Amino acid sequence: MAITKYGIISDIHKKPEYLDQIVNKLKVEEIDKLILNGDIGDSWLKIFRTLEVVSKLDIETYIQPGSHESVEDYSNVVFSFCNKYSNFIDVIKNQKIENKDHDLVFLPGSDFLAGGGYLLGDFEEWDNAVCKTQSDEFNYLSNIRVLDTLVSDPDKTISICHVPRKFNDLDSSVDYAYFAESATGIVTSGEVIEKAVRREYSSHMNKLQLDRNLDKLAFSHGFTFKRENRGNEELAKSYESNGITKAISGHFHESSHRAHDSNSILVPEGQFTDNLFYNSGAADYGLAGILCVDGNKVAYKNINVKH
Ligand SMILES: [Fe+2]
Repeated sequence: MAITKYGIISDIHKKPEYLDQIVNKLKVEEIDKLILNGDIGDSWLKIFRTLEVVSKLDIETYIQPGSHESVEDYSNVVFSFCNKYSNFIDVIKNQKIENKDHDLVFLPGSDFLAGGGYLLGDFEEWDNAVCKTQSDEFNYLSNIRVLDTLVSDPDKTISICHVPRKFNDLDSSVDYAYFAESATGIVTSGEVIEKAVRREYSSHMNKLQLDRNLDKLAFSHGFTFKRENRGNEELAKSYESNGITKAISGHFHESSHRAHDSNSILVPEGQFTDNLFYNSGAADYGLAGILCVDGNKVAYKNINVKH
């Protein structure tokens, strides 16, 4: 059976300017199909622009939201594109794509919302559902429990979810997160706060002094840097109980292009395996990924348009 080559793009929302280069690179790589794995735009216009650019590839394209897409913006734009292009597939409506030698199962949304409305979680109610929040906005509850019905053959199954499952290894795992927590418990990107602190003190200190004093300086502004495995625990339980050993994620930019097996042992690029957890890379950083599927084995290739 022929190998299927999926291009994977996620986390485009901050720097959409890399998107054209990424799409061109994926075209050169002759991918068969494309997966948009969340955070494809944090506004109606940005989602529209992303879909417009990827439509040039003219291949089967699976689309799902992450942490930043509001239900109103996302559903309207995706509906319009799916109406125009028969090769665009809204995976909220088609969470399982069956192929001869492998199945893709999609879990839309995120457990940490950054302005988005697609909330991923383990909900008692069985069906996914749209509901209204107190502020009269729409939320979509995306239930991890659907995996129990979607997964019929674990060996054939590849899970596509914006967020990774929980692991326990900071050095290699796809769920490594670097963040800053304020005294009031607000969590924000560690990289953003670090940049701000470095900018603030760069005229008074050299790089070495800044490196040594970074934590102290951030703390003086009320922030504590933290490095943790922030993957989803319910997702880990579900992957384990359903026998899922192949999953693609994004979300944590700082874990871009990490790839390992269920025991957090690194998996090298290009090596076919039946056990792979892969962060396909943040497009904000000029990164994307390719997943090659050959029966129940997969291999990945990292794409970096900044090279
Ligand atoms: Fe995200």
